[in-house]
Amino acid sequence: MDLPATVAELTDTLRQDGYLADRGLATALFVAMSLHRPILLEGEVGVGKTEVAKALAAVYDRRLIRLQCYEGIDTHQALYEWDYARQMLHIRALSERQIADPDAVDKLFGPKFLLERPLLEAVRAGERAVLLIDEVDRSDDEFEAFLLEVLSDFQISIPEIGTIRAETPPLVILTSNRTRELHDALKRRCLYHWIGYPSAEREVEIVLVREPTVSQALTRKVVAAVNRLRQLDLAKPPGVAETIDWARTLQFLGATELDAATAVDTLGAVVKERDDLELVTASLAEITSGG
Ligand SMILES: Nc1ncnc2c1ncn2[C@@H]1O[C@H](COP(=O)(O)OP(=O)(O)OP(=O)(O)O)[C@@H](O)[C@H]1O
Ligand SMILES: [Mg+2]
Repeated sequence: MDLPATVAELTDTLRQDGYLADRGLATALFVAMSLHRPILLEGEVGVGKTEVAKALAAVYDRRLIRLQCYEGIDTHQALYEWDYARQMLHIRALSERQIADPDAVDKLFGPKFLLERPLLEAVRAGERAVLLIDEVDRSDDEFEAFLLEVLSDFQISIPEIGTIRAETPPLVILTSNRTRELHDALKRRCLYHWIGYPSAEREVEIVLVREPTVSQALTRKVVAAVNRLRQLDLAKPPGVAETIDWARTLQFLGATELDAATAVDTLGAVVKERDDLELVTASLAEITSGG
């Protein structure tokens, strides 16, 4: 599918895939896609940061290439590695005479033995890909500096092979949960959008899009209860994913109402910390009283 011509068109297209973007997010994505700028999405846990990259890849028929960041991730895991096992097998299969050939070693570091990792894959795929750099806040400073370099020129130099360049850059979506502040330099490269919790109206809509068989009345109750939970001082406040899970769980159990008794039996879908559980259980009647 071609790039969207308007923000409204992008919103509609995403909706067809079951993703509801509000105007702010849709505008930011529209600009990022049109101007080929990376976009950094920050926000609460479980508000659809990762999902939007998947949805965009699906609706625009692009390959989703995901680089999941974690503590200690290094450039090899992100760019490329040499297939050591295959190189060894290859060497063992060579005869004495073949090994003496000076080209033999060069061949060991050729395309055949190169393992592409997400960034190299994305540079190769160019605009046919959506590159999701997920949870970038988990990586360390050096990795961030390295990412900055890749994002600036979308070219990768492999000493043994040469330079690989993207004709047109992929759509790059970075996400962060803000466990640490990212560097200004990285932020300056990117467009930025904060995804907060959706309004109650919209959250009801999201649940119904994802779980069409759940009744609207029950969904409203669940959303109201989740919103109360978010106002408590929980270590892990529930995201949209938990709202959906809770509604799904209640529906599965045949509940038509959300009262303190059904809530206590199903809290495991929304509250996932022991201390939080204690806090919540103490005020369940209040939490489930609206809708
Ligand atoms: N706007 C939305 N439209 C449709 N579904 C949504 C939306 N927001 C969240 N969801 C649902 O919530 C789930 C969680 O979203 P996702 O995993 O993208 O959250 P996240 O922000 O990446 O969370 P985390 O910070 O934990 O990585 C998704 O699987 C999706 O079903
Ligand atoms: Mg995520």
